[in-house]
Amino acid sequence: MKKITINHLMRWKQEGRKFASVTAYDASFAQLFESQNMPVLLVGDSLGMVLQGRTDTLPVTIEDMTYHTRCVKAGSPNSLLMADMPFMSYATPVQACENAAKLMQAGANMVKIEGGHWLVDTVKMLTERAVPVCAHLGLTPQSVNIFGGYKIQGREEQQAEQMLHDALALQEAGAQIVLLECVPSKLAAQITQALEIPVIGIGAGADTDGQVLVMHDMLGISANYMPKFSKNFLAETGDILQAVAKYMEDVEHGIFPDEEHTIA
Ligand code: KIV
Repeated sequence: MKKITINHLMRWKQEGRKFASVTAYDASFAQLFESQNMPVLLVGDSLGMVLQGRTDTLPVTIEDMTYHTRCVKAGSPNSLLMADMPFMSYATPVQACENAAKLMQAGANMVKIEGGHWLVDTVKMLTERAVPVCAHLGLTPQSVNIFGGYKIQGREEQQAEQMLHDALALQEAGAQIVLLECVPSKLAAQITQALEIPVIGIGAGADTDGQVLVMHDMLGISANYMPKFSKNFLAETGDILQAVAKYMEDVEHGIFPDEEHTIA
């Protein structure tokens, strides 16, 4: 696979070409995803749940993230590799720089942080210091205790307006990707249209530029429950490589997510 950079994603957005991405946590799966030309991999702090068996992402440490980023990079040197900054590792811009450096030195091409306008200074400081940023909006799992559960975000008009405003402010601050999780598809479409940078969705409908799934959900091996918006592609194909290829193909052709896997 040729090396994928943010420039490819920007071009694909301009061309209206959809792309898939998936979480990865180890070298073997990373290699398997790269063998299928998966352009973007995310070392998600979802590893707290799917690898460590925790109930949320809060216990995940920067050391955990650095270790798994290094593993994924070894298996997939050519995908655009995003790595999550874990809970409380970016509470201040300076702390964000120190911790982002660890992820970048472990092989990440971009870091992902969760939150809205309060992150503007952090995004500025990171990007000015050569750390590309993906801004995660909507259902930001590190805020589960503020939300009182894993709830759809942006249903109310004021919340929706705020999310659009945050997305524009974060783009202005230098964010190179926005990721939207669990938001109504109409709002996700509006934000995708308003932004020049690529928008990746999970539970955000079919109109975002890219899609991401947690690999354990995509392969139907999640220990816990399967989110409504996710799909078990292994059940459909019976083979891991074919499952990955089918997921990518369905995203690229606008077949996934369909209505059944969309939040109205
Ligand atoms: O941690 C993760 O896997 C994520 C995805 C749900 C987008 O942030």
